[in-house]
Amino acid sequence: MVVIEAGRTGLVLAVGDDGRLHQIGFGPGGVASPRPELPVALYPLAYPTFGEEVLREPALRVTHADGATSTRLRFVSASIADHDGGALHRIELVDRVAPLAVTLCYRTWPAYDLLEQWVEVTNGGHGDISVHRVAATAPALSGAAPHLTHWGGGWAGEWTETTERLTPGTKSVASAGAVRPSLHRPPIVLFAPAGPATEDAGSVGACSVAWGGDTRFDAEVALHGQVRLLAGHQGRGAERVLGPGDQFTSPSAYWAWSGAGIGPTSRALHRFAREQVVRDGTAIRATVVNTWEALFFALDPVGLLAQIDGAADVGGELFLLDDGWFGTTHPRNDDTTGLGDWEVDRRKLPDGLQPLIDHTLERGLRFGLWVEPEMVSPDSALYAAHPDWVIAEPGRDRREERNQLVLDLCRRDVRGFVVDVIDRVLAAHPGITYLKWDANRDLTEPGTTTLASDRQSHLAVDRVRATWKVMEAVASNHPDVELMLCASGGGRSDLGTLRWFHELWTSDNTDPVARVRIQWGASHLLPASVLAAHVTRWGDRPFAFAAAVAMSGRFGFDVDLRTLTDDERATARAAAAAYHEIRDLVQQGDLHRLVSPVGSDRTALAYVAPGGERAVVFAYRLPADAGGVGDGAGGMAADTPIDLPWLEAEARYVIRNITPAPSAADATEPFELTGTTLDWPIGEAPVATVQVLTRR
Ligand code: DGJ
Repeated sequence: MVVIEAGRTGLVLAVGDDGRLHQIGFGPGGVASPRPELPVALYPLAYPTFGEEVLREPALRVTHADGATSTRLRFVSASIADHDGGALHRIELVDRVAPLAVTLCYRTWPAYDLLEQWVEVTNGGHGDISVHRVAATAPALSGAAPHLTHWGGGWAGEWTETTERLTPGTKSVASAGAVRPSLHRPPIVLFAPAGPATEDAGSVGACSVAWGGDTRFDAEVALHGQVRLLAGHQGRGAERVLGPGDQFTSPSAYWAWSGAGIGPTSRALHRFAREQVVRDGTAIRATVVNTWEALFFALDPVGLLAQIDGAADVGGELFLLDDGWFGTTHPRNDDTTGLGDWEVDRRKLPDGLQPLIDHTLERGLRFGLWVEPEMVSPDSALYAAHPDWVIAEPGRDRREERNQLVLDLCRRDVRGFVVDVIDRVLAAHPGITYLKWDANRDLTEPGTTTLASDRQSHLAVDRVRATWKVMEAVASNHPDVELMLCASGGGRSDLGTLRWFHELWTSDNTDPVARVRIQWGASHLLPASVLAAHVTRWGDRPFAFAAAVAMSGRFGFDVDLRTLTDDERATARAAAAAYHEIRDLVQQGDLHRLVSPVGSDRTALAYVAPGGERAVVFAYRLPADAGGVGDGAGGMAADTPIDLPWLEAEARYVIRNITPAPSAADATEPFELTGTTLDWPIGEAPVATVQVLTRR
């Protein structure tokens, strides 16, 4: 028997008399022994293959060298080794006939209650085999009322939540487009066996695939209500030919289980992301002032210097120059030209970037710069010189999206060019300590000259790994440069790609009413330290409300600071100062989602210090016509206060209102909390309150 314990998440496997590997238990308290009266062979298979369980979805489908399409795996051996405070289990299986070895790999992260799983497939024969699908994880799940929660919605609609009851058949949640997959479907689902879990009650498993390309989750309800969840990279269009001796390693999937609602799964993933994934993940993040929604492509030194001064004035700590600064022969005045030509446009900025950088540093801020290094505009010097450097298929149109093509990073020379571009830009401009790395189109005509004609489908996986190589090189060449991951917003929101980054641009949708829901969804996978949230004019909402929403993520501004009214400027300063005080909580504290904005016109969340001695609570009332329905949160009466579940009944707490406002006169005196609830903000929606609770 193999017992795999990862804190709250457990898995037990055993070999039956039939030589096959079966799953005895999985989930919270999954560490169960087989029932003596039930032969192991009657338990579900640990990793079903095509041709083995003919009525079920397979986790693995291979065409063998002799053309056979069925695979039936038998147990060979199991090993365990220490790994980073946890254990690495490797379980070796082989096909009963074909020379195919399959290793199920499980790494436990007990400090985070997480189980990581991936699968290695090795061709031990003398002929080629084709691997059509390899799920990273495929546990059998049980439950009387299985429910799946998943997210998606496309550009500006990221992280729109759906929770649905699983019915007989297979529910697939798959992303597409390859470059910005999380815009469509971020790589996480929640499975609740016995009806939807709440934040603090019910059994629920969160499963996330750490992959920078398309992912696929299949939740299958089969005969007699047996459930299985298959998760991994998208196999369709990514078939892999393995030559003799070749091995394919799947991306990793992570499981976090909780018997006490969704909250613990998110907090486990957040701690893991901060401590094990994201670069410098436990460091406090700066307040970023970006130029995109302020100036778009209309950059000039006077306007930029004014933005830098404005940024210093409102409490910004890092000035980010977004798109539009480059392009010499093909100036970047809109999105039709210039990508690939990473030289400063001297028509716009005659003295280059350095005076701007120097001025920014003199004002006490850091300087950041936007790049989109994986892309090229056909209207560019780079494309004129290297039309063969793009992903394309022979004889087919090169379809453009946002007037651009995707560079083929599977080519060593192209990888070298991209790494070199970043090296050159940074070397030429001392003082840049932050880059925003964007990617603004999907993949079409997925062809590469680096692969033989019968291996073109390898591109789906190879391009992701080649892109990671470039990101890794940039991160290691420039350890002191912070990187923001962006793909038209939150198009790359995965625990694989984030290894090279410090944070990500959560969504291009910065309407704070929409952002409340987007950030709520994203918080099921990612900690607030990673989720950039900027005050903008989108939606034309009250400035203080926009600021209060941005303060619940990694705070910043993306607004023309010359256009602020006196009240707005004062509110901006107050928000930045208040954020300074609470950002350790927001960025590093434990998230408690209190009232969901899904189908509701109210929402509240809190970040709590690990000992519970300090917390910040954000409460928002939203316009009913802006995506919420009804006049209550999930049927909650309008005057139901916000319950704060982490408070100790016998302790006393002082509350300070730090809701951003134009004048100190708007601030209320601190008061002592009686009970364990807070009231909703009052006034015309959208309206917010931000309150700090301190234990006495
Ligand atoms: C898409 C990003 O999401 C925006 O924030 C901005 O950087 C634009 N690209 C610039 O073209």
